Amino acid sequence: MELRIGSLLLTLFAINIFAYSIPPLSGFLPAIRTSFIQKPLRETLDDWIEREERIALDKLLANVKPGGRNVEGNGKHVADGTVIASPSTESPNYYYQWVRDAAITTNTLVDLYADDPSSKLSSSLSTVLDAYATLQTKIQRTSNPSGSFDDLQGLGEPKFQVDGTPFTGSWGRPQRDGPALRAITLINYLRAYNASHPSIWESGEADDIFDTLYEASMPARSVIKADLEYVSHFWNASGFDLWEEVDGLHFFTAAVQLKALREGTQIARAFGDDGAAHWYNEQATYLERFVRRFWNKKKGHLVETLWSHRTGLDCGLLLGSLHSYPSETVDYDPVFPPYSDETLISLLALVQDQRERFPINLQPYDDAPFEGESIFGGVGLGRYPEDVYDGYGTSERGGNPWFLCTSSAAEVLYRTASRLTETSSLTITPLGLPFYSALLSSSSLAPEEGATYGPSDAIFHSIVEKLKLVGDEFLEVVKTHVDGEGSMSEQFDQVTGYMRGATDLTWSYGAFLQAVGARKYLDEAW
Ligand code: NOJ
Ligand code: NOJ
Repeated sequence: MELRIGSLLLTLFAINIFAYSIPPLSGFLPAIRTSFIQKPLRETLDDWIEREERIALDKLLANVKPGGRNVEGNGKHVADGTVIASPSTESPNYYYQWVRDAAITTNTLVDLYADDPSSKLSSSLSTVLDAYATLQTKIQRTSNPSGSFDDLQGLGEPKFQVDGTPFTGSWGRPQRDGPALRAITLINYLRAYNASHPSIWESGEADDIFDTLYEASMPARSVIKADLEYVSHFWNASGFDLWEEVDGLHFFTAAVQLKALREGTQIARAFGDDGAAHWYNEQATYLERFVRRFWNKKKGHLVETLWSHRTGLDCGLLLGSLHSYPSETVDYDPVFPPYSDETLISLLALVQDQRERFPINLQPYDDAPFEGESIFGGVGLGRYPEDVYDGYGTSERGGNPWFLCTSSAAEVLYRTASRLTETSSLTITPLGLPFYSALLSSSSLAPEEGATYGPSDAIFHSIVEKLKLVGDEFLEVVKTHVDGEGSMSEQFDQVTGYMRGATDLTWSYGAFLQAVGARKYLDEAW
């Protein structure tokens, strides 16, 4: 027990470094609804972000049971703990729970909870988080078209009905990112819960409370361990990508699996499950080597799917980098963090493609702080160049920009700026040079290959400032395309800019909140 306490105490500092603080919401949800209808005519980006942050949280929680207005009393039985992807029940029908969307957006809620566990918001959140953990434990054990709990294959099922029963229609399955994302979210929750209840271990109640989350017995009984077993045994098997279209081996999937195994190693150790810790760590070592294979030297950027006929440029690269970034407590070097040359150069290539591809990206934005000259600036980003899903069906015109991808680009840039501020050093490698040159293209300063810059160099400050500025340009794009109420659907039209696809997409709000969290963190660090 001594040892367990020691190592778990380490996790007390698990509060996500990018956690953000939302001002206390008076009376929780209902009160804020009335306050955002009135949109000021002229509003700075800062003011808008502050307002939109509350709206996004409100609208995200509206899609979560218990409490959410889009999941209560509409005739359908919605299980507690359900996160619907969108309230849209037809064209398209997103009124389901996707394991991926639910895990990603719930992780945002865990960060909010960890930020101030004693707040009024957090007491509502803790009900939601408990319900999420309970429901995921249940659906993990529900036999479905991917398989069962006994053979673990059932864990790869991507989507469930809102009452927690399986979806039996044909679908792109399995999707192997789900168990990894769920493990990441529940580990984050376990740590946050532990941090906010410091006397649990002395009271002797720890086992009762944590057993359902993590416990050493095999075959795995606890929800986190079952997911870690799944990830550690099947990371090298093919499956469908995060966009549910291509069967193969994918960057996003591998990146989040690696994070799950790294964090899982630490949790297994904290629970005295040394054999498992050793096994997860060993698999993580192999998986790390595998993740490096997504760097395509010939193309000069990361690719989302190996051996694919596509370019490989994909918003999944940004998401993979962001969602595999280590939590503060775990000591390992991430492979392709947001600030890595590989991630940034891939972002540059994706931005250049999407700028040319979508007419809307050629129009200057009224409020945009940039002059339109720079070859690297904020644009609306879609999923990938070859996309043909237009939010309702397939379109010859191709896809559209997505809110969640556009916000993720902002987050990558904010996190890169924070990293530079923290390390006080930037070396311009041959690989990173094109990115930093494009970033500074409208300035009189030019980065030099091989140079190392620090806070005493003017160019260092310009780079940090520009990263923030371009990050803001991406959020400016989001600001331009939300509707009068601050709602975000899945996409916005590549020609008209109007919203398209599933309305009030939970993930659109989650990705926006994450970007805003990273922006706040930067403002504090800078
Ligand atoms: C729905 C899927 O969720 C989406 O990713 C896909 O692009 C479209 N169907 C079209 O196949
Ligand atoms: C389609 C997206 O491609 C997929 O990533 C997502 O999980 C579902 N829609 C639900 O939002």
